[in-house]
Amino acid sequence: MALPGQNTQDESDPGQGQGGTDNRTAPCSPVRPRTNRVRLIQHSNLKLRLQVRIEDLRCLLDRDSFWARGRRLGDLRKMLNGSQAVVSAWHGSDLVGFGRATCDGVYRAVLWDVVVAAEHQGQGLGSELVTMLLSHRHVAKVERVYLMTTNGAGFYTKLKFHEHHGQKLMIREPGNSCKDKSEPELY
Ligand SMILES: CC(C)(COP(=O)(O)OP(=O)(O)OC[C@H]1O[C@@H](n2cnc3c(N)ncnc32)[C@H](O)[C@@H]1OP(=O)(O)O)[C@@H](O)C(=O)NCCC(=O)NCCS
Repeated sequence: MALPGQNTQDESDPGQGQGGTDNRTAPCSPVRPRTNRVRLIQHSNLKLRLQVRIEDLRCLLDRDSFWARGRRLGDLRKMLNGSQAVVSAWHGSDLVGFGRATCDGVYRAVLWDVVVAAEHQGQGLGSELVTMLLSHRHVAKVERVYLMTTNGAGFYTKLKFHEHHGQKLMIREPGNSCKDKSEPELY
């Protein structure tokens, strides 16, 4: 599994991946088989490495999530800019894991878009990724951390999250007035 707790900033070595044009037609290449260790990165404010490799992030989300497929590159950039805590995992130059959190630094944080590439699942990488997100300086001291999950409750239970039955999940989708709202994209 990945190097536990390895924590590097992202302002150098953006790797050799695809660039960041707003072109959604580039094919997603399969992640290469594992040949060396996975490196976890806790990103700085700029998230430079991911901004440069935004196409790879789009591919990871398209391949290995169900709720975050088809996102536009420009929107993914805004998403990164609007996320106070961002962690990614790299196998060589391949992006193989991602997770982010939005938070106020005091009261509340919410985890979003935790994804591990299929070829790297079941090896502890997801746990490392969430642990690094939770240790992020903007997340670590908040009163309460929330997340939404469709299939991952068992995974998060092992990370000391618990189901909460006293509250309802409420959703408003002002940006999607033309979409079919019968199936909100939860995760
Ligand atoms: C969910 C996900 C992030 C887990 O990452 P991972 O690297 O495979 O997880 P880990 O190897 O760290 O697993 C840690 C433990 O959680 C368990 N686990 C992993 N995914 C699980 C799931 N969906 N449900 C229940 N348990 C799960 C593992 O079996 C492991 O248990 P163990 O410690 O007893 O061996 C990853 O499988 C993934 O990206 N899936 C596709 C996207 C998705 O569904 N994300 C949901 C997050 S909301």
